[in-house]
Amino acid sequence: MMQENNLEEKTMDEGRQGEALIIEGQTNGKRKLYIESYGCQMNFSDSEIVASILDKQGYETTGNMEEADLVLLNTCSIRDKAEQTVRNRLANFNTIKKERPDMRIGVLGCMAERVKSKLLDEEKLVDLVVGPDAYRDLPNLLEELDEGRKAVNVILSKEETYDNIEPVRLGGNGITAFISIMRGCDNMCTFCVVPFTRGRERSRDPQTILEEVIDLRDRGYKEITLLGQNVDSYLWYGGGLKKDFDKASDMAKATAVSFADLLGKVAETAPEMRIRFSTSNPQDMTDDVLHAIAKYDNICNYIHLPFQSGSSRVLELMNRGHTREQYLDLIRRVRTIIPDCGISHDIIAGFPTETEEDHQETLSLMKEVQFDFGYMFFYSERPNTYAERKMEDDVPLEVKKRRLREIIEQQNRDGQARMERFVGTEQVVLVEGFSKKSDQDLFGRNDQNSVVVFPKEDYRAGDLVRVKVNSCTSATMIGEAIELVRR
Ligand code: SAH
Ligand code: F3S
Repeated sequence: MMQENNLEEKTMDEGRQGEALIIEGQTNGKRKLYIESYGCQMNFSDSEIVASILDKQGYETTGNMEEADLVLLNTCSIRDKAEQTVRNRLANFNTIKKERPDMRIGVLGCMAERVKSKLLDEEKLVDLVVGPDAYRDLPNLLEELDEGRKAVNVILSKEETYDNIEPVRLGGNGITAFISIMRGCDNMCTFCVVPFTRGRERSRDPQTILEEVIDLRDRGYKEITLLGQNVDSYLWYGGGLKKDFDKASDMAKATAVSFADLLGKVAETAPEMRIRFSTSNPQDMTDDVLHAIAKYDNICNYIHLPFQSGSSRVLELMNRGHTREQYLDLIRRVRTIIPDCGISHDIIAGFPTETEEDHQETLSLMKEVQFDFGYMFFYSERPNTYAERKMEDDVPLEVKKRRLREIIEQQNRDGQARMERFVGTEQVVLVEGFSKKSDQDLFGRNDQNSVVVFPKEDYRAGDLVRVKVNSCTSATMIGEAIELVRR
């Protein structure tokens, strides 16, 4: 998700969806690639695949756009605001291009997929448009650019998982890394553009996932986040779409790997690494997954579980596949199977037809669950989605904003209460780097994914440290180190 204004989005977690990430790099006379990523973690992960493909074409990343031969923007379409940011950025790039006419500008990701060649034809903002399933075609597309043509490939795939491409880890901290385990989404929530921009849901061969885990482990990484739009839906039976599983052979069915199975394999492959995953979907999450989290110490006790609305009527219109009661029931099972699990949410305020009562139901669900943190948005109508085609965007903007403000205030209160339970306890923290505020302090997360800040002493990034928590805000614990658990 984009870094947007406070009212549209309150991001209480430093890590999940950050600011645009600009990649630093070394230069030595090769062609230079500058890549900027916006949106979800999957986009950041995809940029690492793109950098790997382009590395083989002789491109090296640079953090300085002005010296780049190729400037790529990996884009997000999830809300209108996200696309506006991209357009502004492209306008900036084009100003620089006036001084550097040989510079090539490309758009990748969801907006490339959604707007397609219009970005080159009508708007003349870019030279290259590449959708999320077409990155392997980049060498050919760049050749077309070299020959003076503009280039576009927005073909979506039913198979592409980039499973044999070893990502170039970009701009990271060398401690936490993402691994994509699946692509696309088949859920068709009526507000969501993702099924259109990222195509059909497909799972990646678990063997190649485990190879990536081993590689990261051997290179000293300490934490892995398994990524997918809907990880609970992961299913590998030798390839093919999930909907065709019934037609698979008995042998394929017997050896199929579910998300719970995959979690177990990853946890056993790297017992000293922390394992996280995102995003879960209430309608697809099974108790097997909860039991896997409970069984393996190194799978973190944290679940990001969007619920969007507390009203069953609105949930039905959103095609979420679950009711309020089913969501609350799932939360109860989480709390029973994984005591003290961190839980976060996504909420949309002001979906078409949302009444004041529906909104109150969202607030009451929040009060009941007591989420640790969350990502909150107001509804943004997206072209071609079911909601755009069949429903009227009838909640006035001021009402959407007021409801969102109330949701954020509720989350601030709940977040504070949840954080306070840690005060006076000892938490094991994986240090990710210096605190934003001071280089005398380190920052990291506990198992539940809550942020902890403490004086650095002799500790450093990558250390697992036992920290005594002395105080907290609604989003951060403040403490002091007790001992090193592992380096
Ligand atoms: N499964 C995905 C969800 C992608 S969208 C994942 O991996 O995170 C992330 C969140 O953006 C959604 O959960 C929803 O809360 C919000 N969102 C999606 N479409 C939206 C829209 N049209 N308007 C406002 N918020 C939206
Ligand atoms: Fe979007 Fe719903 Fe899939 S929010 S990504 S269609 S689970």
